[in-house]
This record gives sequence, structure tokens and C-alpha cells, in this order.
Amino acid sequence: MTNTDVIIVGSGIAALQLARQLQEHLNVIIITKNKVKDSNSYLAQGGVAAPIGKFDKVELHAKDTMTAGCNHQSEEAVKNVIRDGKRIIEYLINDGAPFDRKSNGDLALGMEGAHSMARILHSGGDQTGKYIIEYLLDALTEKVRFVEKELVYELIKNERGHCCGVKTMKGDGSIHRYSAPHVVLSTGGAGSIYSLSSNAPTVTGDGMALAFLAGAALSDMEFIQFHPTLLSLGSTSGGLVSEAVRGEGALLINGSGERIMEGVHPLLELAPRHIVAEKINRERIEGKAVYLDITPVKDFETKFPSITKLCENHHISLSQGKIPVTPGCHFTMGGVLTDEEGKTTIHGLYAIGEVACTGMHGANRLASNSLLEGLVFGERLANHLVTFKRKTSPFTGAYNVQESKGNIGEITFDPTELKERMMRDVGIIRNEQSLTRHLNWLNAQSLSFHTGLDRLSENEIQTYLMWVVSMLITQSALLRTESRGGHIRSDYPGENNSEWFKKSILLINDNHQLRVVRDEQHQIEIYA
Ligand code: SIN
Repeated sequence: MTNTDVIIVGSGIAALQLARQLQEHLNVIIITKNKVKDSNSYLAQGGVAAPIGKFDKVELHAKDTMTAGCNHQSEEAVKNVIRDGKRIIEYLINDGAPFDRKSNGDLALGMEGAHSMARILHSGGDQTGKYIIEYLLDALTEKVRFVEKELVYELIKNERGHCCGVKTMKGDGSIHRYSAPHVVLSTGGAGSIYSLSSNAPTVTGDGMALAFLAGAALSDMEFIQFHPTLLSLGSTSGGLVSEAVRGEGALLINGSGERIMEGVHPLLELAPRHIVAEKINRERIEGKAVYLDITPVKDFETKFPSITKLCENHHISLSQGKIPVTPGCHFTMGGVLTDEEGKTTIHGLYAIGEVACTGMHGANRLASNSLLEGLVFGERLANHLVTFKRKTSPFTGAYNVQESKGNIGEITFDPTELKERMMRDVGIIRNEQSLTRHLNWLNAQSLSFHTGLDRLSENEIQTYLMWVVSMLITQSALLRTESRGGHIRSDYPGENNSEWFKKSILLINDNHQLRVVRDEQHQIEIYA
């Protein structure tokens, strides 16, 4: 057993921001199932939204965030995150973070869908994630140790039910244990449990499943954001084509060159994502291809080097000025329920970044708000843990660990089938029939919610955790009998405010049974 002060699972922006702030005070181990740079954050093209422009205000950014999120959030909480985010971004700018600037030296602020003004900071054109991750990594010291290529497959709890460590598996099947009084999930979302996804292939919801199996409450799992424009490769997708391309003037057209967003929404190509994604999806279901017409974008290759390379890699020539696009899964608004510091319903367990449901994004996330949220919650949790350390005696590692138990059953399905079924039945548009079909298929796998995964291979564990997350999304989507944000039901079109306004769906592991409940008042207790 390896002991440390804080274990962070995952290595995206929230994880590195947390580690950066903790390293002066505490020893940190970051564990990732891949290489450190294999995260969604690293892939982020768009940028970081912050109200730092001359005419911008926290209130305006918060209003856009609330509108995109269909007012499912608490406005006060959203404002606080944006206020903290603005301060952190100003600090990073002064610290020399590599944000792009115009020729006159001013910051180059980009525009994205559903923002009422240009407020997106970016780096290296469309390489924002890469630049920021490298900047944060450069600031880490030897107090932060990286463990790569180990899959965290179980959260260890002590006899009091407190989280006190993790179990990992290496590719050779060997099992390892790490203990700490604080375990932080920062594993990203679950985008790659859909067959069409902008996410890194490894981002399949591990942290959400681990937290659920350990007994933490999850929330809002039905709200899934589908990005309108992934590079279309026929029936598959090749990666993200940033909304910033539309922000720079690109148009959405069909094969006959007609603009498909005309008459759909006053903001046209920059309408909220679920509206654009739904429209493109409808066109494609009718057998029509959809393209981004990039001819209005000046200096495309210079502004969007990653997308240019992506197209080249897939032999898509930009000389005709058209990029074929398809919607695909992009972001999970729900996740492990936390308070405003990243604390969960389990003592000693925290969640930050996309794995968490902090209440920032509501029913649909405003573009480029996720890197901001990662920076804010990384800092907030660091402040909490440092204060906690000052108030308590040092951790001795003498926890009485509870052994994992239970038999989950046999994994007999191919994860590719699960992903395709998720896309078809729990995708951009759902209804009772499609959701029930998927639920029946999940149930037919005869698996159950247990933690005794030691006997499984790494691949089987991954597939099992995907099954758990798929169950959580499907059950929540069935219960919410309305359409709101990233949850669109063809059998319940439109919002039903009398029944569902500001009501969340909670997912609770009740003695190995999934309990799906409508939270009337956010009455669940976050450990204090
Ligand atoms: C994009 O670049 O379109 C994605 C940005 C985001 O989802 O925040």
C-alpha cells in the first residue's frame, strides 16, 4: 500500500490546477489509466470563457450560462463560479499563461454559440487545451507524483464508510493499492460511451461509475450535450470541429448549398448547441449530408491548425471550402453530486471537472465554460483541503479497510454494441420506447452493482463500468418526462415547468439496487 495526502484520479485541467495549488502544502499522487496528456482537456479546441472584455460583466456571462442551461442552475452559484473564474484568468494572464493576442497586443477574444459577446480566450488558435495543460504541468514540482497506465477500478472505504484510497490494475493484471485521507475524482465525463463522440476514446465515465458503486449520489445524468459539428466520416466521426469556426463566420449548409439554420433560431449557426445538433441530426436522418462552409473564414489554416490537421489526416481537402459534419456526444452535464467545494456525499471523496455535477452547467453547458469550471473547482478544493489539513492531525494510514465483495456476473457483450445502442436509443432524441429498449438490453446482460472486480481483466472492468454509466443515464432519461437542454424527448416535447423546473434526478446505490429519485429540494446531504 502506498500512502500519500491526496490522490487525484485523472489528469485534466481540474486535476492539474488542484495539484498546482496543493503542492506547497501536501503530497499528491495523480493516477491516470493512460498517459498524462490523454485527457479531454488536452483536446479542448475552443477555449476558456471569462468576462474580461471591456464591456463584459460577470452578470452577462452568468445570464448566458443560465439561458444555455435552461435555468436549471442556481443563479447565485453560477455567478460565484464566474466571479472566481474571472479572478483566476486574470491571475493566469499576469502569470504569463499563453493566451492568443491580437497584433496590437490585446487579448484575442473569440465568439461561440449562445454567448452574447466575444469572451473566449484561446491559445495556439484551436490548441487551447494543449497549451494550458502544458503550462500547468510546467508549474508542478516533485511533490506531485504521476502514476500512468493504471486503471483505478475501486474506491476503498474504511469501516466508517469514509473513502480512504483506491485500488488500481495495470495492463498485466497486477493489483495495487494507494491510500490517502482525500481521494479526488477528476476523470472527465462519459462522452465515449457513445459511438459518435468528440471525447478522447478513454473517457467512458469511470469516475461516475466508481463513485456510484461506492455509494456516492449522482445527479442530472440525463443531460448530455451533443456537439453539432464533429468531422463526419460517413457512419463514424473523426474528432471535433470547434464551434469557434462558426464563431468566425462559417455557415451550416446542406448538399445544395442552402443554409439549414435559417428559420430555425434567430442566432442561426450560433444558436444553443442542442438546437443546432438536433437540426443537423434531422437533416442526416432524412439522408442529407451537412457541411460547414468555411469560405467566409479568413486564414482558416492559421486560425485552426488542429482542425486543418484533422481534415488532412482524414483526407478531407479544404480547397472546396466544405467540411462534412455530424453531431456527436460532447459533454456530460451531470455526474457525481458535489457542493461548491467539490465535496461529495461520501466523506473523503471529492469530484471536480466534468465527472462532477456542481450545478454550474444546468441542463446544457455554455461553450467554453468547462475549462473555467475546472480551474475554479481545482482552486476551491485546494483551499478546502489545505484548511482541512490545518485543522486536523496528520494522516497515519492506519485505516481499517473494508474488503470489496459481491459478484457482478459475467461480461459477455461487446462495448461497441453498447456505444451504438447508446447513440441510437439514448442519443440526441430519446423517447420511452427507445429508452425502454435500451434498458431491457442492459438488464438482459444480468449484471449487478457490486465492487468485487478483482477477478476481471482491465478490459472487462472498463466494459462493466460503461454498463453502470449507461444504466444511470438511461434510467434518468426515462424518469424526466419533459425536454430540457441536452435531454430531448420526442414523446414529451417542450419543458414542463410545473413538474420539472429546477428539479434534479438523483441516482443512489441503495444496497446494490439503483434508486432513481426526483430531488424536490436538493435535500441530499453533502458531507461537511
Ligand atoms: C468547441 O470548441 O466547439 C468546444 C468548446 C466547448 O465545448 O467548450
